[in-house]
Amino acid sequence: MIHRLTRGEIPKKPHTVFEVDGTLTFEHCFTRMGFESIYSIMWHREPPHWVESAEDLGRHPGWAEVGTNGPLRRSHYLSDRQGAGGSPFLARRLLFTNPDIGVWLGRATESEPTLVANADGDELVFVHEGSGRVESALGVVPFSAQDYVYVPQSLPHRWLLDGPALLLTVEGRSPVRVPKQYRVPEGQLSMYAPYTHHDFVEPQWPDGGPESLDAPHRLIIQNGGMLSAFELSHDPFDVVGWDGQVWPFAFPIRAFQPKTGAIHLPPTIHTTFAGDGYVVCSFVPRVVDFADGAIPCPYPHSSPDCDEVLFYVEGNFTSRRGVGAGSLTLHPRGLPHGPHPGTYEASIGTERTDELAVMIDTFKPLLPTPFAAEIEDLNYNTSWVR
Ligand SMILES: [Fe+2]
Repeated sequence: MIHRLTRGEIPKKPHTVFEVDGTLTFEHCFTRMGFESIYSIMWHREPPHWVESAEDLGRHPGWAEVGTNGPLRRSHYLSDRQGAGGSPFLARRLLFTNPDIGVWLGRATESEPTLVANADGDELVFVHEGSGRVESALGVVPFSAQDYVYVPQSLPHRWLLDGPALLLTVEGRSPVRVPKQYRVPEGQLSMYAPYTHHDFVEPQWPDGGPESLDAPHRLIIQNGGMLSAFELSHDPFDVVGWDGQVWPFAFPIRAFQPKTGAIHLPPTIHTTFAGDGYVVCSFVPRVVDFADGAIPCPYPHSSPDCDEVLFYVEGNFTSRRGVGAGSLTLHPRGLPHGPHPGTYEASIGTERTDELAVMIDTFKPLLPTPFAAEIEDLNYNTSWVR
């Protein structure tokens, strides 16, 4: 989604005869928004859509049909209360949901044993802890802690972990995009954008191509929260080359270049990715508002059109007390939100913040699921009592 790439061998023109080692290849067009948006074309040695068998696996164990918001309150969730184990895709749990996004949390300890694909949406995974790589027919994306990892909707892939990982996944049910104000009409990232093309970690083409990755032939697909398994007839990574703009990437959150105003700028300046009905923002260490008399701490605000999820990564979050690394808070529309008692005044005269956090704002109510209720800290709402 960032820019166009080419890997491996591709024909002079798509949709024409292209032989490798004297054998005809099979084209696989991976398109977005029907045929009206970005796309990548892969050339496989064998037809990519042939299967040996199909199996219904039932509901994803971490899927929740609906959430409920219960009494209106500010809520706090502790990621370390969620049990660890399993693989990134199959063992994660849906914490918050609305028609536009799902927010999943996983504390994985194992690599994905099969290929997986999410037909329910694009995935933007924030890696709080852990490192490894995501393999697909488009190549290998290495990742580390504090990276976002983007995987396009329905792309077969697998997560290979170096050790335990804490992963927060935004499942965008419309494409996750670079906000349009960050691009010039010709498509290049603007000089005003908070990142450059080179900040995005592209898929690496391994020696011998993705065929050398020895991909499993079993593919599990999530669709409507249900899982189906397919045994593929051929190596799903038998791609000799590809070209296009749909590809997975990693983006280190610290590559986000923050802006600071003489006096406080709205949180919009932290917007990193956006889809229909949601934005994902990055709060990174920065110099704070510097005019005489400026109040660096965010002003209390009512955003009656938004619910706000904050995931705390590192540092001392200037506006909140009682939250730590791995905390998630949900501040629903209907209640004004802002700094904890005392923090607004204390911020006056400060010069820097070392906070590192991910914020997800949605324009439809984001409802906690029963899995969220299992890891909730019920004291948070009363922490706002003066
Ligand atoms: Fe807010």
